[in-house]
Amino acid sequence: MTQGWNPESWRAKPVKQMPEYSDQAALMAVEEELNALPPLVFAGEARSLRRSLGQVAQGQAFLLQGGDCAESFAEFSANHIRDTFRVLLQMAVVMTYGGSLPVVKVGRMAGQFAKPRSSDTETQGDVTLPSYRGDNINSLEFTPEARTPDPQRLIRAYHQAASTLNLLRAFAKGGYADLNRVHGWNLDFVSDSPLRERYEDLANRIDDALRFMAACGVTSETVPAIQQTDFYTSHEALHLNYEQAMTRQDSLTGDWYDTSAHLLWIGARTHQEDHAQIEFVRGIKNPLGLKCSPALEPDELIRLIDVLNPENIPGRLTLIARMGHEQVEDKISPLLRKVKEEGRSVVWSCDPMHGNTYKADSGYKTRNFEHVLAEVRGFFAAHKTEGTHPGGVHFEMTGANVTECVGGAEAIADEDLSNRYHTACDPRLNANQALELAFLIADELKAVRQDGLPKPIAAVAAE
Ligand code: PEP
Ligand code: CO
Repeated sequence: MTQGWNPESWRAKPVKQMPEYSDQAALMAVEEELNALPPLVFAGEARSLRRSLGQVAQGQAFLLQGGDCAESFAEFSANHIRDTFRVLLQMAVVMTYGGSLPVVKVGRMAGQFAKPRSSDTETQGDVTLPSYRGDNINSLEFTPEARTPDPQRLIRAYHQAASTLNLLRAFAKGGYADLNRVHGWNLDFVSDSPLRERYEDLANRIDDALRFMAACGVTSETVPAIQQTDFYTSHEALHLNYEQAMTRQDSLTGDWYDTSAHLLWIGARTHQEDHAQIEFVRGIKNPLGLKCSPALEPDELIRLIDVLNPENIPGRLTLIARMGHEQVEDKISPLLRKVKEEGRSVVWSCDPMHGNTYKADSGYKTRNFEHVLAEVRGFFAAHKTEGTHPGGVHFEMTGANVTECVGGAEAIADEDLSNRYHTACDPRLNANQALELAFLIADELKAVRQDGLPKPIAAVAAE
């Protein structure tokens, strides 16, 4: 076991961004109840994601991570899950085809509830209440009752995560993800958009390839990979009482896994080396993510890598850069260089959402699609300059036809935001915007392939 670590060693550390419960006994009762409930994922699955991310770290695959900023109790439905899943499938197929690289698919789904907030309180008029922190903690409604943290919400969130995961597993393995259905994944509202033709063209080419392969004897029946896919879940490791309660010792290896999701990440506000969130995740064997904000210095990053991936295992650690479109190249380049010089094996992923949020004149929190694109382009450009692998992307998106981010092929304007602005937290790309982005990434990946893949970091270190 990791030196000096146990599932509750985080409790002795300073902690940020956690709710304050007035009734500690009620919280403890919930922790006990959660601890007795079945795990949501198995250690073996977390290990297989780690191996797949290891391929990404070596430059041989690409990571697509996406989903809601915050899942909510209100938006929970089979259609919501299916629509987000199928847009992720569409994006993955576009990128796989364009980049000729396997795409590792990870949802911000089935457990992405707890949110860090820039302020502990929110003021409306002359009333100040605790901030909304996610549906597993309190409620968005602006009343004292709604904003009071209620530990019972953790139980409801667990059950919602379990049902979500159940459906995702059925979709991933039960035939929905069959490549022969690639036309069928198109959503009705995507088929009305300018992207329709581009997607249909790609789907036709995949159909041709599948017919050719079938003629050669390669079909869904003979090769399960055509009919099934691997789909993993992830969320921010923020609410440590919940995460600890879901942490179990693997009977096979004796290692500890947080069974609430396959991958857990540390947010930009809670990555202090000596604080509770870092302490907790260093001891679990799940693959980890670490958000990298513009304030992160190269030396600090190396110290964090020392803590989170001391054995330099490929796929253990994904660094998710969220720099903002204006400074992405300036800010990420020194980090890429330092990590490469130090011979650290990591996955580099681009979150082009969280550095590009602003308040529109209409009062809505939004993101401009052009800024999102610009950050992705800057991310690829920086990797090209540094000779490192642009390993993946991390989006807040949904399969629903929302109007939360401005721009894109449908040219959503500030005035349109109020039409279908449903997010409980940050603005998400809708299906059209997400798919448009996937085509751009496919083009970038194709260029990476043509330039030749960068050498894996292990080979660089050995030279
Ligand atoms: C998020 O991913 O929703 C988030 C809060 O991001 P960050 O920690 O990068 O601000
Ligand atoms: Co967010």
